Amino acid sequence: MSDLAIATEGLSRRYGRVLAVEDLRLQVRRGEIYGFLGANGAGKTTTMLMLLGIVAPDRGAIRLFGRDLAGEPLALKRQVGAVSENQYLYPGMTTVEYLRFFADLYHVYDPRRRIGQVLDVVGLSARAGAEARTLSRGLQQKLGLARALLHDPPLLVLDEPISGLDPLGVREVRQILLHENARGKTIFLSSHVLSEIERIAHRVGVLVDGRLVADGTLADLRGRLEAMMTLELERANDDVVAALAALPCVGDVRAHGSRLHVTTVGGGDHRADVSGAVGRAGGVIVGMNTKGSSLEDAFVALAAPAHSSGSGRSDQDDRPAPACPRAARVTVAETAASGTRRVSRRSTGRWRARATGVIAWRELTALRRSPVPAVALGVALVGAAVASRSVAAGVSAGGVVAGPSPLYVPLFIAVLVLTAVLAFVSATSVARERESGTLETLFYGPVDVTAFVTGKFAGLVVVYLALCPVVALALLALASLTSLRVGPDLLLGVLLSTFAAAHTIAFGLALGALCASVRSAVMVLVAVAWVTLAVHGAAAILAALPAGGGAATAVAATFDSANRALSLVSPYAHLDWAVQAARIGDLIGFAVAVLASLACIAGLLAAALLGLRWRGAHRS
Ligand SMILES: Nc1ncnc2c1ncn2[C@@H]1O[C@H](COP(=O)(O)OP(=O)(O)OP(=O)(O)O)[C@@H](O)[C@H]1O
Ligand SMILES: [Mg+2]
Repeated sequence: MSDLAIATEGLSRRYGRVLAVEDLRLQVRRGEIYGFLGANGAGKTTTMLMLLGIVAPDRGAIRLFGRDLAGEPLALKRQVGAVSENQYLYPGMTTVEYLRFFADLYHVYDPRRRIGQVLDVVGLSARAGAEARTLSRGLQQKLGLARALLHDPPLLVLDEPISGLDPLGVREVRQILLHENARGKTIFLSSHVLSEIERIAHRVGVLVDGRLVADGTLADLRGRLEAMMTLELERANDDVVAALAALPCVGDVRAHGSRLHVTTVGGGDHRADVSGAVGRAGGVIVGMNTKGSSLEDAFVALAAPAHSSGSGRSDQDDRPAPACPRAARVTVAETAASGTRRVSRRSTGRWRARATGVIAWRELTALRRSPVPAVALGVALVGAAVASRSVAAGVSAGGVVAGPSPLYVPLFIAVLVLTAVLAFVSATSVARERESGTLETLFYGPVDVTAFVTGKFAGLVVVYLALCPVVALALLALASLTSLRVGPDLLLGVLLSTFAAAHTIAFGLALGALCASVRSAVMVLVAVAWVTLAVHGAAAILAALPAGGGAATAVAATFDSANRALSLVSPYAHLDWAVQAARIGDLIGFAVAVLASLACIAGLLAAALLGLRWRGAHRS
């Protein structure tokens, strides 16, 4: 069993021209609190996102508890609790519902009791029923910590966990972290509040422009700094200044009357060397003051831009880090970690299946509360009613209607409305999740792109299946009101419309995954709808016109070809083909139509997966 909770080797990540993290070798031992420091933009968050499997490294390897993160990402992510710089919360979810969602994802035993416990730990019990988004920034930060603690993971990765907290909150979080560390948790945290890091961290690493320039205990870091010494002499002279300047441990000497300000370098206690040199040069020391350096001094010295170019990367390698001072008292660690190990034996497939189910359920519950399905259903049924009236009028006037069942047209209208709304919902929900950051938080848990896409897809298809019986009953009611005949292809149409729904939902997911924002997803969706309608309409109009000469025929042929090409990938064309083929008993035609629909669904889901991988779950 590896004694390292986190080990990275050669980790690098570039965003365009910015090299955010470069060749990072990080080693965090089990049971220690490791402070990850760096100026703004140094690469801390990027590193943490790579440790959480959210940002993919360009190069390098990550091992958590000795296991390769790339090899078993979901099981390993279950062993990590993460808090990000900002909390991204779902709209309309209470504090308890938020935690329950993650408890289900993490497969927490007895979630109600555990949620009560963690709310108690972070002091949020009184706000259990509050909408999470309405909590103040500091309280949201505490809610994030509660989420990270929910599944009692052996490793906490905390990106600025105390930013936004009041002094009492900072103290509470400090106590929680120390308590969790005493229980055996390894804590990897970044913070700009150096006094807090100084209080709780066993070791610190300093990142400068993506490179780890220092890694060791606080004493190590301080020891590497220059220290300022002030000497009060009976009488200062040039010999004394020269003697001091010649010492290897002295970097600089400045005289101010009988006072000398001496800067020593390399750490350590140089008082004896200094007083010896002064004595040999004939000086007499009457007072000596040394000023030690704080973590802030160390940080400023290491992270200041002037030092960044000169700081050797080898610093981290040639300095053996001292033993973690509290590692020895890590006794409960094995208990806490072993509980998680037991759960984490689940395979990636089982974690994925679980996440898919939880995400699908969340999609269903979110839409249950939303007015969108009811409004869509209302519009669909009004459209179907209007269509059935005009069809009924056509029938009574002795006209011809499409298909054997006159109700086929109203059904088609209802399906068109419902599926278009579902395409819109799926496209905007994926884009919104990325834009609002909830996707990033979701991916802290044992969730991957496949689970996310299939979960959303399954949830939305189930929503459609739930709406289908209402549509079928409404059509039967319309049939009795208008005396239109109910043909066998009506039921078939209702059943096959599920393929059209799945097709449009998959299209929406792919669009949402590929687009950078909700706005662009909506714009592309509207553009696709317009182009499709325009091509379809133009082809129909041109076909109905009397045959003209040369150019007009070419235009009509072009639109006809474009319309046929669109039909090959249109969910509504597939639905129509399948129903018409079934009506005339053409089994091959029916199978081809269904297979074409399935192929499109599979292709679009694959595009959604690739799109999400390409764009990433990281809030952009
Ligand atoms: N999604 C992104 N696209 C482009 N550049 C990015 C992206 N995320 C981070 N960067 C860049 O990568 C570098 C490292 O950023 P990162 O957020 O990791 O720094 P940080 O140390 O966490 O900073 P801070 O202390 O301000 O949180 C910065 O130059 C940043 O501008
Ligand atoms: Mg950051």
